[in-house]
Amino acid sequence: MTGDASRSELAPAKINLDLLVTARRLDGYHELDSLVVFAPLGDLVSFAPAEGSGFGLTLEAAGPFAGQVPLDRDNLVLKAADLFAARTGAVVAGRIMLDKRLPVGAGLGGGSADAAATLRLLNRVCGTRLGNARLRELGAELGADVPVCVYGRPVRMRGIGERLDPVRGLPTLGLVLVNPGVHVATPAVFRALGGLGEERHGGIHPQGGPLVLAQYLAESRNDLEPPAIAVAPVIAKVLQSLRTIEDCALARMSGSGSTCFGLFAGPDRAERAAAILRQAVPAWWVQAVTIEPDLVEP
Ligand code: C5P
Repeated sequence: MTGDASRSELAPAKINLDLLVTARRLDGYHELDSLVVFAPLGDLVSFAPAEGSGFGLTLEAAGPFAGQVPLDRDNLVLKAADLFAARTGAVVAGRIMLDKRLPVGAGLGGGSADAAATLRLLNRVCGTRLGNARLRELGAELGADVPVCVYGRPVRMRGIGERLDPVRGLPTLGLVLVNPGVHVATPAVFRALGGLGEERHGGIHPQGGPLVLAQYLAESRNDLEPPAIAVAPVIAKVLQSLRTIEDCALARMSGSGSTCFGLFAGPDRAERAAAILRQAVPAWWVQAVTIEPDLVEP
């Protein structure tokens, strides 16, 4: 096995700053239009190749949320590894460790982010040099959200998740992520969706500071918020708690929930808000994150 010696890959939390559900396809999937960013916080996927002529692949999980993920062949990490091996011909044998630091069933990418990190990691470690576009194609076979997680940078996501257009010019974002400890299953939220929302008018123009962005986002929405609240009413409480913090410019749910985010004027305000919320409700998972602008050309 040749390639990069670094054998760990972050699976960053995916945050949908908005999420419009605009159509339902005949196969039951929904067409979305979503502004997606990634936090420098996530699960960690590591790979220890088998020594010598060993074969077979095992998965172990550690970390605060390890107990909530299946470790059998249903885990998207192993599915991603199997798919990668089948499509590239690379021998993928050894141990994969998943450090599960993000809540599960949380609207933050979860298994899709882990699968995407696995594809990126194996591509690096095995020296297969697949381009990002090819990795996204493989990701699409694993789940609708995997391609965007393979991409991993600010992006407008459309179709059922396969159509990705980079978004440049976002300001530095100070966010607080709050998860109330309730697992929300994505299919259940889509089933509870009452109807389709209006399409986005006028594209995404992210120029301006965080408060300008908050104004833009306030005109937009997450169409999965009402059905997710119907499935897990505590989400409304999380949103309300964020909104009661004086300088919270926007509070919204990410993905199909149950994690919500608050957008603040800057990282220091977000840190302060996180401290307030942790004290108010110690049982909730609360993280302040800073998302830097995407300056690198693709
Ligand atoms: O493909 P993935 O496993 O991420 O999707 C989980 C479920 O979420 C699907 O079975 C479908 O019910 C719903 N979904 C949808 N439209 C999307 C993405 C997911 O209806 N664009």
